[in-house]
Amino acid sequence: MACLVDPLGRTFPYLRLSLLEACNFHCSYCLPDGYRAGPRPTRWLTAEEIARLLRGFAAVGMRKLRLTGGEPSLRADLSKIIGIAAGTPGIEKIAMTTNGILLQRRLQDWRAAGLTALNVSVDSLDPVRFKAITGHDRGVEVIAGVEQALGLGFDAVKLNAVLLRGLNDDELPAWLAYLRDRRISIRFIELMRTGDNLEYFRRHHLRSEDLEQSLLDAGWQLLPRLADAGPAREYRHPEYQGRIGIIAPYSRDFCASCNRLRVTAKGDLRLCLFGEFGIPLRQLLQSDEQQAELIASLHAQLGLKQAGHGLHEGQTGMTPHLASVGG
Ligand code: 5AD
Ligand code: SF4
Repeated sequence: MACLVDPLGRTFPYLRLSLLEACNFHCSYCLPDGYRAGPRPTRWLTAEEIARLLRGFAAVGMRKLRLTGGEPSLRADLSKIIGIAAGTPGIEKIAMTTNGILLQRRLQDWRAAGLTALNVSVDSLDPVRFKAITGHDRGVEVIAGVEQALGLGFDAVKLNAVLLRGLNDDELPAWLAYLRDRRISIRFIELMRTGDNLEYFRRHHLRSEDLEQSLLDAGWQLLPRLADAGPAREYRHPEYQGRIGIIAPYSRDFCASCNRLRVTAKGDLRLCLFGEFGIPLRQLLQSDEQQAELIASLHAQLGLKQAGHGLHEGQTGMTPHLASVGG
């Protein structure tokens, strides 16, 4: 079966699937007032619908799946969904991005079900700052969960920290100490402007260029990028076990290397995180007989993928906050 290709020749081995929009954290850049459910309960994609979706995407070249949210670990059927993904022919890597709150309790189950890589949001190694940024005093527990993950044979364990001016932009020395003897990657993510965080963005957005220059000055070396890699520019250093990635969505070439698609928890295909529209797929996930139609629809929709986002023009698309599309 032919792989998905867009008008610019980009292919899409990487799918990010949101399992629900709800989250139990209050990260100040994302859901400062916590998640608010709509007036009527939302039916997120069911495990059966997800099974059909994954089979369709795998048939057109998806090899790496990332489960996101909201907070994916709030799904009671998470292990079942991981198992479904692991049993889908073609899918080789199953990653998940989590706030880490359930790591200590559930991680072994997820690993046993087939999870191969883990990303945990850790905006600060300092518990007081962790609480100030996420609204929850759980930094110590989350880090303990990360330590546990290191012993479970994952292909990769990565931490995400959003770079925030005045809140966590002086912590490079602490991170370096942490990375020296741990096979772990930290991703520093530039704050992205979304529909809801304009004022916060003005106050706390920080370009990652200075940080990247400090890394180069300290002997860190840029690694070549893999075909199914995420958007990070990744650095290593001979004296460190760990790696550092920089995710800079405002940098010039960010969109040129885009290799990912997103599906929301309600089953809409999103061609770009900051796009203006979602394409409903859910009606094509109701029976196994619809696979050919689903695949034809994916091919047709890729023809609409734009060259890049409109963030530089201040257009945040239809994304109020990243919990709504899973980052
Ligand atoms: N800008 C950058 N990163 C964000 N995340 C959530 N909202 C934003 C934003 N506005 C990050 C979280 C988490 C990942 C899913 O996305 O910190 O690590
Ligand atoms: Fe929740 Fe992630 Fe948003 Fe934080 S960034 S509030 S953990 S969805």
